[in-house]
Amino acid sequence: MTCVPVALSEGRSYEIHIGSGQLNLLGEHFIGIARSSRVVILTQPIVARHWGERVETSLQDAGFTTQQLCFPSGERYKNLTTIARLYEGLYNLVPALDRKTLLVALGGGVVGDMVGYVAATYLRGLDYVQVPTTLLAMVDSSVGGKTGVDFREGKNLIGAFHQPRTVVIDPEVLTTLPRRELRAGLAEVAKYGVIQDPHFLEQLQRDAAALVRGEVTTIEAVVTRSCQLKAEVVTADEHEETGLRAILNYGHTIGHALESATRYRRYKHGEAVAIGMVAAALIGERAGVTPPSVTTAIRETLVALKLPTTLPEGIDDEVLIALTARDKKAVAGEARFVLATQLGTVALQDVPVATVREGLAEHRRLVERSKRR
Ligand code: GLY
Repeated sequence: MTCVPVALSEGRSYEIHIGSGQLNLLGEHFIGIARSSRVVILTQPIVARHWGERVETSLQDAGFTTQQLCFPSGERYKNLTTIARLYEGLYNLVPALDRKTLLVALGGGVVGDMVGYVAATYLRGLDYVQVPTTLLAMVDSSVGGKTGVDFREGKNLIGAFHQPRTVVIDPEVLTTLPRRELRAGLAEVAKYGVIQDPHFLEQLQRDAAALVRGEVTTIEAVVTRSCQLKAEVVTADEHEETGLRAILNYGHTIGHALESATRYRRYKHGEAVAIGMVAAALIGERAGVTPPSVTTAIRETLVALKLPTTLPEGIDDEVLIALTARDKKAVAGEARFVLATQLGTVALQDVPVATVREGLAEHRRLVERSKRR
């Protein structure tokens, strides 16, 4: 088991526990952090079917009383209507919840973001723990306290920073995760290589086949490194005030636009981010910031990880450009991009619309060229 600290001020520090079999030790991890013996597990039906019993048994063996609430997940349910249903579910629990009750977010990124938001707001704030069950949630959304839901076409437009008390990651749960979902999570893993650690990107290229196959030990190693890299950023800029934390959004500006333009149906989040990472590299080239060798390394790694890298036909670039103006990093309607200056180093930068347009056009030409080959 590896323990990755997330160092924050005012009692908000916590640890990420990573290792095969950790689900069985969940109850032990809760002793010392729980302020009451009552735990409410919030999860989605399929995760409950696979892991609900194991989680409850582990908690009950450690002396906790447990209740479980299931709710529909998936991006299309990530909205205030589902949040209201969750408040309703908590309100109806017997006996009534008190402020010391510990909530558990058991599931993927959408579950974690929504339960985190419920924990941030119900009774003016409850403690919660993240137990991520997708690779994407393990390496990104379960760490760092960003919570929230989508609103209109804006992804995560409503939310709050609310740190979990701990994160417990058991890579064995990934054995039941669909392969496509696993690959999508690898996009966020590759992102850390691009923004913080070029050696890690090389390692991902080398280990791509094992990762795509879902080999647990290789996955555990990359989850650990990803969590360390994310923890560094969150420690340095917890509330995304200095611009440092914004680097975690590499590839997300076009990625989010693609998800929104395709109504969250065509792409998994990680797939859209993979395409967005290549788009950001080409926009960076046009802006005179990103060396072409960096674009090549990013593309080759993503291809090795069996991720999509090309912009889809049938979606106008102007639609994507208009959607980037709604990105949370946008200032006065002008899109800001995270651009790679070299492998492992990025900068947040205003990019003129004309440059974005040129970068996207270059991205499309790339598809044409690869089709002709
Ligand atoms: N997923 C981006 C962040 O946590 O800041």
